[in-house]
Amino acid sequence: MTWIKRKFSRKLGIALFLAVGTTLALADFFILKNIKTYLIGELKDNLVSQAKQISAVLDPGTFTKRDPRWQELIRKMDQSSGTRVTIVRKDGVVLYDSEVDWKALETLENHADRPEVTDALRFGEGSSIRYSHTLRSDLQYAAIPYPLMQDAEGTIRLAIPLNRLNNEMKGFANILFAATFTALLIGIGLIWIILRWSAHPLEEMTRAAESIANGRMDLKVRERSEDEIGQLAKAFNAMTRKLSSTFDQLKNDKNEIEAVLSSMVEHVIAVDASGKVIFINPAAEKLFGIRGDNVRGRPFMEAVRQAAVSEILKSVMGDDTERFEEIRLILPEERFFEARAVPMQGVRSERRYLLVLHDVTRIRKLEQVRREFVSNVSHELKTPLTSIQGYAETLLAGALADSKHNRDFVDTIFKEADRLNRLVNDLLDLASIESGRKKPQITEFELAAVVNEVHGMARSRTEKTGVRIENRVPPAFLIQADKDQMKQLLLNLIDNAVKFNLPNGSVAVESSESPEAVTFSIKDTGIGIPEKDLPRIFERFYRIDKSHSREIEGTGLGLAIVKHIVEAHGGSIRAESVPGSGSNFTITLPKNHSSI
Ligand SMILES: Nc1ncnc2c1ncn2[C@@H]1O[C@H](COP(=O)(O)OP(=O)(O)OP(=O)(O)O)[C@@H](O)[C@H]1O
Ligand SMILES: [Mg+2]
Repeated sequence: MTWIKRKFSRKLGIALFLAVGTTLALADFFILKNIKTYLIGELKDNLVSQAKQISAVLDPGTFTKRDPRWQELIRKMDQSSGTRVTIVRKDGVVLYDSEVDWKALETLENHADRPEVTDALRFGEGSSIRYSHTLRSDLQYAAIPYPLMQDAEGTIRLAIPLNRLNNEMKGFANILFAATFTALLIGIGLIWIILRWSAHPLEEMTRAAESIANGRMDLKVRERSEDEIGQLAKAFNAMTRKLSSTFDQLKNDKNEIEAVLSSMVEHVIAVDASGKVIFINPAAEKLFGIRGDNVRGRPFMEAVRQAAVSEILKSVMGDDTERFEEIRLILPEERFFEARAVPMQGVRSERRYLLVLHDVTRIRKLEQVRREFVSNVSHELKTPLTSIQGYAETLLAGALADSKHNRDFVDTIFKEADRLNRLVNDLLDLASIESGRKKPQITEFELAAVVNEVHGMARSRTEKTGVRIENRVPPAFLIQADKDQMKQLLLNLIDNAVKFNLPNGSVAVESSESPEAVTFSIKDTGIGIPEKDLPRIFERFYRIDKSHSREIEGTGLGLAIVKHIVEAHGGSIRAESVPGSGSNFTITLPKNHSSI
């Protein structure tokens, strides 16, 4: 039965077939019934008129005494017309019957209670149909009184078997049924053609709707008529156009949003009401080391095991109120984020939550560096100031008169003041290079000459320790840089190389060049720098093993200044060292200064 259910046209076809078939069958039935009633009526009228003809030839004597003449007359009539004639006396005694022998007439039963007989006597005409066992057929009876209703002497009754009529009716019914059946067949054929023809556009639309459901929006159905189906096709095409443009619009909007989210440096994650990941942008994927495809649809707290992030999401999901707080994550290095978690309205009013993490690590680290810097500066300033104050107090308290020590005290005050001065100068230099106020004044000069100049400045220290300085830079080696800043850079590096050297050690300054850059290095045979400290020596105030360095004066600003000078020139500096056997600082400066 599924083949019926699957097609509307089939259902409609079967319904029409049943309706038309039933109507035709009923019509046939009523036609046959009416025709039969009509024919029987005709037959009866015919019998009545025949009876009237008989009545015309009879005379009143017929009913007083049985006369074989009459019997013979009606027998002949029967033979010629096939109609049985019976003449019944008023009291019901059968006087003559065309189909009964003369002698047997006496034995016939009384006919007074035959309905046609009683009706004829009462109403002037009577008829009825009864089954005759003798003839095995229905018989049509008709009777009239003789001579008149009031003074009737008897009745003339005629009877004719209905089997001929029935046979004719049967033949007629067969023709009628055959015609009906043919008409029905032709009707079904026509209905089938019409249904196929009208169902075709519907099938076309069904296929188009299926294609649309599969994402194909470019399909159109033919608008072939002006009727309801044609209007449906028009409406369908209009709907497809609208759907397609809305779809395109949505796709565009989605692409734009995705492009924005993808290019954002902020880390964006969206979860649904049950905490499952709906969206994660590339920045967040990278931050948590996960892939969107793998975590989409999974609980976020399972995919990203970060207590602080889970905490803030849980709290926003708890009361649907926006949260904004700073969180610290170990990834595995320590990083700080401003986290904003907001509830959103999804489609069909489903709750969704958006988490945006903004990386503030650099700001926090800078703040920390600034705090440390202030405390370092204060500390470095405090030491010489305390000792100046101490010695000045001692002098004031009477030591001025102590000719043996007063000079030493003043000497110390001078040294400490000098140290303070250098410290403040270093800080000022650092500040101005760092702020970019002091732009390098690029000129071309011989590097070897500057190395010699610095060598001269460091002479007092080299003589004390016996450290040799070898200037291996060729005299004609030219560099383009800010000469004063290069002098300071070399002074700081050579000062370190001598200061952290061993007695009678050596320092070598070398140079090389490539088409793009010049490189020079300061190499010593000193105490070296432990590997763990190497990355940090360029930080301000950073000194290795402060207790040990205490003997060797310094504030830890020298290399910070060097680094800033190199960076201001667009170059780079690299430190290598083998603890116990020496260090090597290599500076590379670009030749093309347009990049600065
Ligand atoms: N050539 C080197 N050999 C061994 N250690 C070095 C060398 N250069 C620098 N260092 C280490 O790096 C630290 C930082 O050097 P930097 O020049 O910045 O500071 P400083 O020399 O101590 O003080 P300042 O230069 O301000 O007088 C030093 O304290 C020292 O421990
Ligand atoms: Mg130094």
